[in-house]
Amino acid sequence: MKDKIKDAYESSKTIYDDVLTQGNVFSRLYIKLFWSGTDDNVIAEKVLSYIPDDFSGQLLDVPVGTAVFTKNKWSSLKNAHITCLDYSKDMLEQAQTRFTDYTHIQCIQGDVGNLPMTDETFDIVLSMNGFHAFPDKIKAFQETHRVLKPGGDFIACFYIEGKSKRTDWLVKNILAKKGWFTPPFQTEEELKDILEKLYQIVDIQIDRSMVYFHCRKR
Ligand SMILES: C[S@@+](CC[C@H](N)C(=O)[O-])C[C@H]1O[C@@H](n2cnc3c(N)ncnc32)[C@H](O)[C@@H]1O
Repeated sequence: MKDKIKDAYESSKTIYDDVLTQGNVFSRLYIKLFWSGTDDNVIAEKVLSYIPDDFSGQLLDVPVGTAVFTKNKWSSLKNAHITCLDYSKDMLEQAQTRFTDYTHIQCIQGDVGNLPMTDETFDIVLSMNGFHAFPDKIKAFQETHRVLKPGGDFIACFYIEGKSKRTDWLVKNILAKKGWFTPPFQTEEELKDILEKLYQIVDIQIDRSMVYFHCRKR
């Protein structure tokens, strides 16, 4: 399963940024047709707005991907210590290129299901567009929770099932078969149930088939 995911992201590394940011007419059409026009740029902005502009603690970005959405904010947080982790070396290399001049940012290859950090290391864990790709979501929820300090923030956005028949069809029949997404996917209710057991929910918003939220570890 992990190799399938790695190969999927390797094959898409040159088009990934354009598709996610709707950088050309085909990606705009794809988003309009299959994602009811949900704009990942807008969701990324909302998610990043949960993080103060003067944040100065320890932050984990998992999965960083190519850092297409996080590069500007991470570069500007000069007093923070930022760790960017991804399973795919091909995606991570692009993030590394974007962050070469920034000593407060380190990029490491790894698996969210087995994070190489001690318990309660981070003040913030951010997971943007990751949980719909992760192969073992239970482990990913456990590990991201484990490495957060008590009172720390878990901030994320990803696809949830059951909001749009067309998007669910695309995910099941194309994105999951190719390896970009990995089932099982949570519905809104299932996700809230998981989060409530682990966190205090500060804010949770649904934008068509995407959820984004800000939770705090008790
Ligand atoms: C859709 S991309 C999201 C990247 C970035 N956060 C963004 O919003 O553009 C999903 C990423 O999850 C990574 N990934 C998949 N399984 C992983 C795992 N087990 N551990 C860490 N990263 C993983 C993939 O390599 C890919 O870069």
